[in-house]
Amino acid sequence: SEAFRLGIAGLGTVGAGVVRLLTEHAALIETRAGRPIEVVAVSARERTKDRGIDLSSYHWCNDPVELAHLDGIDAVAEVIGGSDGPALDLARESLGHGRSLVTANKAMIAQHGLDLAQRAEANSAGLLFEAAVCAGTPILQTLREGMVGNRIDRIEGILNGTSNYILSAMERQGEDFGEVLAEAQRLGYAEADPALDVDGGDAAHKLAILAALAFGVEPRFCEVEIEGIRDIRAADIMQAERLGYSVRLVAMADMERQGDSPARLLQRVRPCLLPAHHPLASIDGPTNAVLAHGDYAGPILIQGAGAGSESTASAIVSDVVALARGETRPAFAVPATSLAGVKCADSGER
Ligand code: HSE
Repeated sequence: SEAFRLGIAGLGTVGAGVVRLLTEHAALIETRAGRPIEVVAVSARERTKDRGIDLSSYHWCNDPVELAHLDGIDAVAEVIGGSDGPALDLARESLGHGRSLVTANKAMIAQHGLDLAQRAEANSAGLLFEAAVCAGTPILQTLREGMVGNRIDRIEGILNGTSNYILSAMERQGEDFGEVLAEAQRLGYAEADPALDVDGGDAAHKLAILAALAFGVEPRFCEVEIEGIRDIRAADIMQAERLGYSVRLVAMADMERQGDSPARLLQRVRPCLLPAHHPLASIDGPTNAVLAHGDYAGPILIQGAGAGSESTASAIVSDVVALARGETRPAFAVPATSLAGVKCADSGER
């Protein structure tokens, strides 16, 4: 049957990972999708850079936004990153032209998710972003499909692998934040600019997306209260341990309802003391985990890698296969027009 044709914007570690996965697992993916999936066009900043993949059979676009209009493309995968700029231009143009979009861009979805979901629906395009939260660990599909019959009033998670790696290493080694961060940067776990990770912004982006899906509200990153882990000392962790607690950077979203209507949404990212028996207390190293409390399913814990080229490519490909199968589902589990508004106290964008 006819191939499903994909354009990829961004050929960093994630984009190259998607090309590799689609190549290596071509036969398996064709069987599961019911048709072959072919990359037909790509865009990146540098054309000649060696990425270990062969680009010669793909159409090259200097400007990623070209992928929104190029003939013969069924969907675009956006892995450029950044909440605004070329990623947002490409997303708006693609969806505006009825072309489905798969993205790994948590900052963009957390800040512009409602606008993009409305564009997608107005033009009968798909908008999927499994890779934006916990990479290949399929938490969005779990909330959107697996738990669709449940009312969910609370989710809590460890959503930043770098911070969790640092806190676990501080606990194990009895070292302070600065020492462990420097080591994490040497080993390549932490970025040279670790602010988004250790100050909680990255976890807050993911939390806003999870809350939107779990509670049927629009994603509002600007409503998340955020405190990171920079001020935590080895002594704090040791004292907590003596009392039977672990320190973790916990993201929590809690929906208070009045009857069936959402009344007040609390979204917070901050270091917390977790009792040893709490399921998130034992999450160690660069792992992500989410605990979602469904009224029928009960507590569901899902954990796995939250970053990395292969894990993120796995999520992108799962969304692409859903589109290739013709599965249509609203981006945030309910139609964009019925997402409840959340009053935003602070109108400035972070
Ligand atoms: N830097 C993030 C983390 C992964 O450490 O979890 C991408 O969101």
